[in-house]
Amino acid sequence: MKVIYPGSFDPVTYGHLDIIERCSKKFDYVIIAVLNNVSKKEFFTIDERIKLLEETTKEFRNVEIDSFSGLLADYAKEKKCSTMIRGLRAVSDYEYEMQMALVNKKLDPDIETLFMVSRSEYVYLSSSIVKEIALNGGSIDCFVPKIIEKSLKNKIRGGL
Ligand SMILES: Nc1ncnc2c1ncn2[C@@H]1O[C@H](COP(=O)(O)OP(=O)(O)O)[C@@H](O)[C@H]1O
Ligand SMILES: [Mg+2]
Repeated sequence: MKVIYPGSFDPVTYGHLDIIERCSKKFDYVIIAVLNNVSKKEFFTIDERIKLLEETTKEFRNVEIDSFSGLLADYAKEKKCSTMIRGLRAVSDYEYEMQMALVNKKLDPDIETLFMVSRSEYVYLSSSIVKEIALNGGSIDCFVPKIIEKSLKNKIRGGL
């Protein structure tokens, strides 16, 4: 089975990478779809987010990095793939994820959203938290791979 794992990945963290690794084992093919959303304020550009994902997932043979803009339902149709993967951390993710899953199903009844529960050690981990810690000079090496840490530091040094 082919699945799509959509998200902002701004930047990719060990929480995302854990889901990607588990998907790569369970499914035949995984498309990581990076959302190019002009109205959402991003830290890394779409090209940077794609490049960082490519670097950190190159060991997985059945994982492809792609990007999309607009509706996920339209992108899913274009890719001929109707199974979406989303990660669930705490209960706080539930309401938003439920809403998205139901809206996508309304737009296209073929779409199924499957939820993968975060590993307990990454339950608190988000791209926003990582950026917040990095911006305040804290250590983020247990949250993201080295290359992400380096890119974050460069970006902060270069100014936003
Ligand atoms: N630490 C984590 N553990 C498990 N899933 C996660 C973690 N961090 C993010 N995710 C999941 O990865 C997906 C993409 O998240 P994110 O990059 O924040 O994009 P979005 O803007 O779509 O929320 C979401 O399903 C989110 O719940
Ligand atoms: Mg999020």
